[in-house]
Amino acid sequence: ESYDMGGHDTYMHKEIHEQVDAVDRVLRGRIDDRFATVRLGGLNLDAREARGVRRVKILGCGSAYHTGLIGAQLIEELARIPADAEPASEFRYRNAVVDPDTLYIAVSQSGETYDTLAAVQELKRKGARVLGVVNVVGSAIARETDGGVYVHAGPEVCVVSTKCFTNTAVAFALLALHLGRIRDLSVADGKRIIAGLRRLPEQIAEVLRGEEKIKELAAEYANAKSMMFIGRVRGYPVAREASLKLKEVSYVHAEAYPASELKHGPLALIEPEVPTVAVLPDDDLLEKNRATLEEIKARSGRILAVAHQEQEKADHTIVVPRNEVELDPILMGIPLQLLAYHTALALGRDIDKPRNLAKSVTVE
Ligand code: AGP
Repeated sequence: ESYDMGGHDTYMHKEIHEQVDAVDRVLRGRIDDRFATVRLGGLNLDAREARGVRRVKILGCGSAYHTGLIGAQLIEELARIPADAEPASEFRYRNAVVDPDTLYIAVSQSGETYDTLAAVQELKRKGARVLGVVNVVGSAIARETDGGVYVHAGPEVCVVSTKCFTNTAVAFALLALHLGRIRDLSVADGKRIIAGLRRLPEQIAEVLRGEEKIKELAAEYANAKSMMFIGRVRGYPVAREASLKLKEVSYVHAEAYPASELKHGPLALIEPEVPTVAVLPDDDLLEKNRATLEEIKARSGRILAVAHQEQEKADHTIVVPRNEVELDPILMGIPLQLLAYHTALALGRDIDKPRNLAKSVTVE
C-alpha cells in the first residue's frame, strides 16, 4: 500500500480496509500444501531446535502485547508448547529467569519500541534465543533478533494499530502451524488450519461490508459513561485489544476482563450507562458466556455481542463469519476496530493523531 489516501478520510479507515490485501500478503508464498505446513524463510530455527523448545515467551507492548496473547494461545493449541505473553516493559525489569529451553519472541509493528528492544537486548546478553515478529523490515528489533517472521502489513501510519494487529495475529498462526507440524499437529489439522487461513481475506471483506450497521451501533453506544469488554480464552485478547482501541481513539473509558472474572468485582460497575461488548466465539465456552450475559441483563446492562449468530440475550449482535475456532480471534477483532473508529468519528476526535500518543514509543 501507499501513503495515498485512496478516497479515505483518515489513515485509520484506510488501514482497516487494507486488511483484505494485507492478510493475503502475509500468507503469500508461505503455504506448503504438500506437507500441510508453512515455509518461514527467516526463522533460523531448524526442526531439531524447534523440537527442543520447552516453553515460548512472547514480549511486546500495547497492541503488540495483545497479539502476543493470541500468539501464545495459538502456539499452545497447535504446537502444544506451553506459551504465554507478557508486556515487554515489565519483563525487562523483573530480572526474569532466562531459561535456555525457552524460545523468546519479541513482537512489534515498528521494531523500534524502546521497552521491547531493551527486553531483547537483556535476553541476548543472557544468551537466550530471541525471534522477532515484526512489521518494519530492517528495524532495530528485526536486526537484534536471531531470526523471525515478517508481518508484511505494509506501512501503518495511524497511531492506532489495526492492519498490523491483524497481520501479526496471522503471522503467529503461521508460526504456530509451522511449529505444530514439526511436533505433533496432524496432517489433517494442518490442512484444516491452512484452509481456514485461506478463507480469511474473503471473510474480512465480508466483515467490512457490514460497516454501515457498525456505524449505527457506534452512534448508539457513543455516549456511554464507560464500556466493559469481555471474552474468555480466545475471546479475551480480542476484548483487551478492542478496549484499548476504543480508549486510544475515542477517549471513552473502557475496561477489559475475562468474562469469568466479572462476578469477582467488575459486575458492580454494570448499569445502563455502562454497556458491555461481549466477544463470543462459538467454542465450548459459549454456554458459559451466555450465562454471563444473563447476569449482565439482570443488572440492566446493555449488551453488544460479537458472535457467529444472533445472540438472544444481547441487545445487538455483530455477526462474523465462522472459520476454524483457533483462528476466531483474528476475525472477531475487525468489527471492533470499526466500532472504535465510528465512535471516535461520532465524538469528533482527531482519529489519526489521538491526544498524548505517538506511533512508536522510542523512549522509556
Ligand atoms: C496501538 O494501537 C498502540 N498505538 C500501541 O499500543 C502500540 O501497539 C505499542 O506502542 C507498541 O508498538 P510497536 O508495535 O511498534 O512496538
